[in-house]
Amino acid sequence: MQRLDMKKVPRHIAIIMDGNGRWAKQNALKRIDGHRKGAEAVRSVVRACRAMGVNYLTLYAFSVENWSRPAAEVDALMVLLEKFLIEELPDMLKNDIRFTVIGNVEALPGNVRTILSDTIAKTGQCSSMTLVLALSYGGRDEIVNAVRNILVEGTSGRLSPGEVTKEVFSRYLYTRDIPDPDLLIRTSGEYRLSNFLLWQSAYTELYFVKTLWPDFSEKELEDIIIDYQGRERRFGLTSDQIR
Ligand code: IPE
Ligand code: IPE
Ligand code: MG
Repeated sequence: MQRLDMKKVPRHIAIIMDGNGRWAKQNALKRIDGHRKGAEAVRSVVRACRAMGVNYLTLYAFSVENWSRPAAEVDALMVLLEKFLIEELPDMLKNDIRFTVIGNVEALPGNVRTILSDTIAKTGQCSSMTLVLALSYGGRDEIVNAVRNILVEGTSGRLSPGEVTKEVFSRYLYTRDIPDPDLLIRTSGEYRLSNFLLWQSAYTELYFVKTLWPDFSEKELEDIIIDYQGRERRFGLTSDQIR
């Protein structure tokens, strides 16, 4: 059995937390109970990542497409999100975790936005790990938004077409201050990205596991990281070149 190498822990882990609804169904509960249980899994994964020395943890909590779910589920998710942020703040401060958000935050209800900015402000000085919640997030929207803002800069003469490099483009994304993910995990046995970090995951190592999100454990995360540590990330080069 391979052991976890604490010196080779991924710098940035991104997770598509999927399967709350199916978990609820399997347990004869309501979908929102699945989301509630999912929030507990979030807590343990945040704790585990912080303990392992992961620098960035990005969690896909609500996609732009999720707005089209039944209103009652969307409302319940927003209430759960508020509750989560309020309850987690003391732990984030205690564990030196900076909180931030990616996505179209303006689309969120006013009270959620207030708590979000409050949490971002209060944890602003923390620096041991950054917890990123993707809320009302869509990768295509993010890219289109970047193009729009670049065009605005171009029209006003602050940026010329030749200056638009990959690095410059990245600065117009929600993730401007966040490195690309090294490892992306999706739970629940679905093999797709569902509009998550499309630009940023160009060279990310992907993991798809069958476990439904509420059942995802620290142990499973550790096993995935051990497997990740055995992978060779070549970035287009040959094996000999990177050794
Ligand atoms: C993921 O679980 C959480 C959100 C998308 C908010 P789902 O609610 O998508 O669960 P399934 O896919 O229906 O099982
Ligand atoms: C992806 O899950 C979004 C989040 C986990 C927040 P979905 O359940 O919305 O994705 P699809 O609809 O199965 O692609
Ligand atoms: Mg789903």
